[in-house]
Amino acid sequence: MSAPQPLAGPLDLRNRPMHDLRISVTDRCNFRCVYCMPKTVFGRDYPFLPRQEILTYEEIVRLARLFAAQGVAKIRLTGGEPLLRKDIERLIEQLAKIPGLELTLTTNGSLLATRARGLRDAGLQRVTVSLDALDDAVFKRMNDADYPVAKVLAGIEAAAACGFAPVKVNMVVKRGCNDHQILPMARYFRGSGHILRFIEFMDAGNANGWCMDEVVPSAEVIRRIDTELPLVTVDPNYSGEVAERWRYRDGSGEVGVISSVTQAFCSTCTRIRLSTEGKLYTCLFASSGHDLRKLLRDGSNDDELASAIADIWRKRDDRYSELRSAGVPVTHKIEMSYIGG
Ligand code: GTP
Ligand code: 5AD
Ligand code: SF4
Ligand code: SF4
Repeated sequence: MSAPQPLAGPLDLRNRPMHDLRISVTDRCNFRCVYCMPKTVFGRDYPFLPRQEILTYEEIVRLARLFAAQGVAKIRLTGGEPLLRKDIERLIEQLAKIPGLELTLTTNGSLLATRARGLRDAGLQRVTVSLDALDDAVFKRMNDADYPVAKVLAGIEAAAACGFAPVKVNMVVKRGCNDHQILPMARYFRGSGHILRFIEFMDAGNANGWCMDEVVPSAEVIRRIDTELPLVTVDPNYSGEVAERWRYRDGSGEVGVISSVTQAFCSTCTRIRLSTEGKLYTCLFASSGHDLRKLLRDGSNDDELASAIADIWRKRDDRYSELRSAGVPVTHKIEMSYIGG
């Protein structure tokens, strides 16, 4: 049997189709990762979104159906921390009924050990877990919430045991903070069946005090691993895949690198992002979004919503990472915890 053909959807100004929808279901998180939600900005008084401003599950599902009808083939639920949203399993159950969609979720893993079974039963197909270090003290310094590594590792194992294998593990590498954990992480996950991916520290949002000196280029990550554990390149799973794949020469598994700083991948970017309160962003680094919640709550019908979405995509010209590499400055960007990476 041949693979299902993607639905013909709109193309943007750079001829890119709309393929992946990332839905942020909450702007809250129980971690305060230094590169994402530093406590100096996200303190006790931080004004997180009030409940009435957040899209309901019914609203999200309605939009998801319209996106799927326009070519979106993958939905990734993000946050903040998506498992903090009450009864997320109920949303997953409804999204899982939409035909032809791959359903995935990115989590910090803190609640995964107890929730993996329910997520799987609800119809979730894959999970990606963020984990920045294997050393407990380093990890606690990065999550700034005193959260131990062991619990995240237990979450990863629980997920694999519930049928989510292979679990992808994302490590954001920040020079001087956790780059000495690259090799321990590689050694630990090698042979486990999980896929470890190293992400270059990005200039997301305005809160994390990003500077280029703290970026460890993916080429350096690969060099460091390859010296001890020889690697060879692997072809992408699909065109536009964010991670570049490598496998261990001895057959003990695979790693990936995500190089949005040193090797921008905007030319094949097919991602669109829906924020917790229903704004649609055509780039991770956009400074403003399109208010779909207003259309939803003002009584627009499905045709009107669908054509608004298609119009937004057709006008898309974003390529922020490429422009940044070329030295073009951007002042205000949305926060990563708000749009979910
Ligand atoms: P799969 O290939 O299905 O596993 O999805 P994925 O790699 O897109 O998922 P994931 O959420 O794990 O993305 C990995 C990381 O890559 C994100 O957390 C971001 O840090 C980064 N990333 C993903 N999409 C983009 C993008 O469009 N632009 C930039 N600059 N970074 C991105
Ligand atoms: N740079 C790179 N990755 C980041 N993430 C959050 N903030 C940043 C940043 N500044 C990652 C998280 C998670 C994903 C959703 O985004 O670690 O894996
Ligand atoms: Fe929370 Fe993920 Fe941001 Fe860390 S990176 S603060 S876990 S949303
Ligand atoms: Fe896509 Fe924007 Fe990221 Fe480029 S910077 S890959 S256009 S989300």
